[in-house]
Amino acid sequence: MKFLKVLLLFFVVQTQAQQGGMWIPSLLEGMNETEMKNLGMKMSASDIYDVNKSSLKDAVPHFNGGCTSEVISPKGLLLTNHHCGYSQIQAHSSVENDYLTNGFWAMKMEDELPNKDLDVTFIVKIEDVTKQILNGVEALTSEVEKQKKIQQNIADLNKSFPKESFQEIKIRTFFEGNQYMLFVTETFLDVRLVGAPPSSIGKFGSDTDNWVWPRHTGDFSLFRIYADKNNRPAAYSKDNVPYTPKHFLPVSLDGVAEDDFTLVFGYPGRTTEYLPAVAVEQIVNETNPAKIEIRDRALKVTDGFMRKDQAIKIQYASKYAGIANYYKKWIGETQGLKKSNAVQVKKDQEKAFQQKVVKAGKQAEYGNLLADFDKNYAEILPYTLSRDYFMEVVLRNTELLGLGFKLYQLEQVQSTRGDQAFTDRKNNLRDGLGDFYKNFNVQVDEKVFEQLIDLYLNKSPQQFIPSNLKNTNIAQLTASVYGTSKMTTYEGVKELLTGDTQTVLKNLNNDKGYQLVKTLADAFLKDVNPKFESINTELSALQRTYMKAQLELNKDSRIFPDANSTLRVTYGVVKGYEPRDAVVYTPVTYLDGVMEKYIPGDYEFDVSEKLIDLYNKKDYGPYAENGKIPVNFIGTNHTTGGNSGSPAIDAHGNLVGLNFDRVWEGTMSDIYYDPAICRNIMVDMRYVLFIIDKYAGAKHLVDEMKLVHPKKNKQSSKKQKVKKNKNKN
Ligand code: ARG
Ligand code: ASP
Repeated sequence: MKFLKVLLLFFVVQTQAQQGGMWIPSLLEGMNETEMKNLGMKMSASDIYDVNKSSLKDAVPHFNGGCTSEVISPKGLLLTNHHCGYSQIQAHSSVENDYLTNGFWAMKMEDELPNKDLDVTFIVKIEDVTKQILNGVEALTSEVEKQKKIQQNIADLNKSFPKESFQEIKIRTFFEGNQYMLFVTETFLDVRLVGAPPSSIGKFGSDTDNWVWPRHTGDFSLFRIYADKNNRPAAYSKDNVPYTPKHFLPVSLDGVAEDDFTLVFGYPGRTTEYLPAVAVEQIVNETNPAKIEIRDRALKVTDGFMRKDQAIKIQYASKYAGIANYYKKWIGETQGLKKSNAVQVKKDQEKAFQQKVVKAGKQAEYGNLLADFDKNYAEILPYTLSRDYFMEVVLRNTELLGLGFKLYQLEQVQSTRGDQAFTDRKNNLRDGLGDFYKNFNVQVDEKVFEQLIDLYLNKSPQQFIPSNLKNTNIAQLTASVYGTSKMTTYEGVKELLTGDTQTVLKNLNNDKGYQLVKTLADAFLKDVNPKFESINTELSALQRTYMKAQLELNKDSRIFPDANSTLRVTYGVVKGYEPRDAVVYTPVTYLDGVMEKYIPGDYEFDVSEKLIDLYNKKDYGPYAENGKIPVNFIGTNHTTGGNSGSPAIDAHGNLVGLNFDRVWEGTMSDIYYDPAICRNIMVDMRYVLFIIDKYAGAKHLVDEMKLVHPKKNKQSSKKQKVKKNKNKN
């Protein structure tokens, strides 16, 4: 009986551990640590996070605020994804020196390439500061006053919390305002490009394979952190030296097999796992379809140009990839939410929640939550949609309008902060626009505009379209804007920004492009955004109470805080899945699969001669497993955008993989995590090493690392057993 109980408990923990979750590294002791050990982890929670001794967290910096990276040598060598270093690789590329196409490898440190505007941030310490931040908040009744008080408390603590001069303080909310955490951080500003494979490896499969399993992408690139002579953060200087990390990850040559424990450590950006059903319904039926349609049009236009013109291809490569990425994700997400019946599941959960509220006698506090959600979501819908159109059409996908909006903000600076602020900002903007125009092609943008402004004027909620833009002839509007606006060239915009304040404002307001942006922005900022913000504040307050209620009423369930770009641990096991009836996916792909996908000359599936050659000769060095080179593998780690570049770590703390994506059927995991089909995709470290050593001939980089064989002993004893068994047969 006792045994049965233990078995049952083990089973519960085992299956629960597959439920996902992104956990705060300083709070793993207890439930998480037990689960992790049950899944096979051999470390303790303090090996992962510790303030007093070096731990895994010291090797895992945030990469430029968006991706994750990890230190893999005592000389500050840094690993992240190819797609995370993409804009840096692009910035160093030209038609003559095309590192995107051909790859780049620094054969000695002097050749490593400095990057403007690239930094990495380490976490030194994490502290719960909920009490300090919520001090005096409870007593206030208005939501706006509460938020003000919280901001004030954050600012105060920011100032008073002890730190070194080269450190920063960041305070972030968890559980939608129910918990606050303080982070002491160190940001390094001199980060240089060390190596990148050609896109035919780093981006193999491109958009066709993006968000898809089975996958064969070597999505990695290498950088190096430089510090001043005292090993402290410093702006770029040729006198800086390679950073000596507090910890770097040893790299395992043994990989992982199905059911092996893995942990992914990184900076997941944003999830919304606790939305009410009504909110998910709006995403599925309204906002995702609108955004998908806009991007579909923008991408078709840009793709047409990129396929015909190599210079445009380089100019737009990074922008295109970014837009295509979430376009495709939203499609997968919508499908997944529908297929998994997420809305109905949420509705059922809400029914159960409502019953619990009654049972706990908490109707006064929580009884109206769900009805209030319904009411507010119904009210906010046209504003949300209109805002999405504005964001996607004006700010994100039409470059001329996006630039126009910056000029519009400049004009606002004049009216709110006066001439001097205006002039400073104007000069800054003017000087910074070189990079914008370097990658701007007016023909591409004109065609994108024509497609998108049509959607904006005809499909976004019509009550917010300014009257002088109703029934506009799209072709005429396009011709008039792109035929006359000075914003179409750098020279032109510099001209617009020359002269005293009055002249600049006059010239801006005479520009057809600017006039259009101003009309759209005025309408958005007056008729849409304020109302959106006020309902949204209401919704945030409801969400906070809903979260509080769930934490209170579901005391023993595994509730984790939504991602918020802070450092998290997620864990699971290497595992395949069944995407649909009668189809089974195994969890590892091999170089053989790259060759199966090979389409000579194709822009997504070409394979370089060098790689084919290595494959034919099986020239794999020490990186093969049973004569094959593993390329990618999947696991049950719950990840999201921002986890790209995250280390996948084995039971002992060694680097086995590099996270870069999720599988198509599970892209809805930001909203609804289904353990049966949600998987993260990682590059096997042995593929990374093989490419660096055998393909690029940059063995000196591998020599910097610490290579380990955690399974070797076990394996040799296993092999002996297998041999014995064979003999028996
Ligand atoms: N889907 C992955 C992520 O969300 C990889 C994106 C980069 N690859 C691409 N083909 N755009 O970032
Ligand atoms: N590819 C994503 C990233 O760039 C990771 C994901 O969304 O799974 O962070």
